[in-house]
Amino acid sequence: MTQAELLRYITKAHSPVATIAVSSGKGGVGKTTMAVAISNFLAEVGHRVCLIDGDLGLANVDIMLGLSSKLNLYHLAKGEATLDDVLVKVKDNFYVLPGGSGIRELMNMDRSMRERLVLELIKLDGKVDYIIADTAAGISDEVLLFCVSCQDVLVVVTPEPTSVTDAYALLKILYKDYSKKEVKVLLNRVEGSEDTAVLSHLELVAGKFLGGMRLIKVGEIPKSDVFPRLLREQSLVALEGVKNAFMPLVEKLVDPKVFRKDERGLSRLAIGFLRFRGVSAGLG
Ligand SMILES: Nc1ncnc2c1ncn2[C@@H]1O[C@H](COP(=O)(O)OP(=O)(O)O)[C@@H](O)[C@H]1O
Ligand SMILES: [Mg+2]
Repeated sequence: MTQAELLRYITKAHSPVATIAVSSGKGGVGKTTMAVAISNFLAEVGHRVCLIDGDLGLANVDIMLGLSSKLNLYHLAKGEATLDDVLVKVKDNFYVLPGGSGIRELMNMDRSMRERLVLELIKLDGKVDYIIADTAAGISDEVLLFCVSCQDVLVVVTPEPTSVTDAYALLKILYKDYSKKEVKVLLNRVEGSEDTAVLSHLELVAGKFLGGMRLIKVGEIPKSDVFPRLLREQSLVALEGVKNAFMPLVEKLVDPKVFRKDERGLSRLAIGFLRFRGVSAGLG
């Protein structure tokens, strides 16, 4: 297949899908927890969700959900598995696509491996309404791949000052190097009304130094023992205890004025996987 044929094939994918990278800069702020909970509640109200596990960290999606998948994106790239082999069903409407070593290896993959990968990924066309990518901490290429290739970036911030500093570092690179003009922000582990002040601080700094960037607050999740339980029990049952806290966020997620389902959402993500070369080279 020539490059032009491949691009034509990819851009034939046209079912509207929202693509959201969950990121933060700092580790341990609740990205994976939030990505799992959001996927769960979206699925519960009837939306088809594919959660991409883009982190090789300790408490990753697999562990939180008690999944033991052997196959991941790397096997797609090697031609050793198909999308159906790799997707793991968590419950109705909720599937996980394990990234495994495939995410880290992507930067080293040759063209034919990337091609095989995207030809499998594109099979998601028409099968999902939301693709949610849980990213690693930091501002490495593996993180930026998703932030740049997804339509939306959902930045998770907690009231700790270091969380705000690290979120700012991520915003700065997205704004300056990738011309992202807008991010959504989710405030996690809120204990009191004064905790929301961190967001005003982030807005202030971004307003001053990242002039054109818009920060849109989409939710506030309280600190709760339910979340560590989710990790311990490896079962979504625990999340029932925080359902009410997530419903306003789910309403935002399904509001097309806030998170847009884009006909080019999937092809854009696939082109990201095909072309992303890392911080120095960008998406060219
Ligand atoms: N709102 C919250 N309240 C209490 N604990 C939380 C909350 N959100 C996340 N946690 C806990 O914080 C820890 C880190 O969460 P995790 O989702 O793994 O973060 P990340 O993916 O950003 O590294 C986990 O033990 C998780 O249970
Ligand atoms: Mg994580």
